[in-house]
Amino acid sequence: MERTFVMIKPDGVQRGLVGEILSRFEKKGFKIVAAKFGVLPEAIVDKHYEEHLAKPFYPGMKAYITSGPVFRFVLEGDNVIATVRKMNGATNPTEAAPGTVRGDYALSIGKNVIHASDAPESAAREIGIHFTATELVAYTKIDETQLYE
Ligand code: TYD
Ligand code: MG
Repeated sequence: MERTFVMIKPDGVQRGLVGEILSRFEKKGFKIVAAKFGVLPEAIVDKHYEEHLAKPFYPGMKAYITSGPVFRFVLEGDNVIATVRKMNGATNPTEAAPGTVRGDYALSIGKNVIHASDAPESAAREIGIHFTATELVAYTKIDETQLYE
């Protein structure tokens, strides 16, 4: 069973999109195994976006990503890493397909609403940056038969 790290960025939180976006993943069938809400500490941002530290867009992106609270969570399920990337759409919202989070809600690459891990290695790395082992919760989702007497 795969796990991936997902983060609704400050623009998504401020626009009131947390519930709508989370709902997409819940309805798809993925399991939420951890969640956290708050402003990212700078050190976490630098670790999380390590591969982009030297890029020209990094200072602006860092200022934006720390400008308000983000909603971070971990999802579990078969092929969850690639599937969530697909559900989020292309990095640049002008190229993101309708029906994807970015295709439906974002207009610019700098404010593209959501992040998700892009591979098994980055998922493991990012989950480790944002959550401790005890913050990842194992549980069973309800079986429909349990709804009936
Ligand atoms: P990247 O890892 O390329 O995209 P993704 O989020 O789809 O994995 O880039 C990380 C974030 O950096 C991206 O979501 C938005 C920001 N960014 C810019 O602001 N300008 C840019 O030119 C690029 C490539 C990314
Ligand atoms: Mg990336």
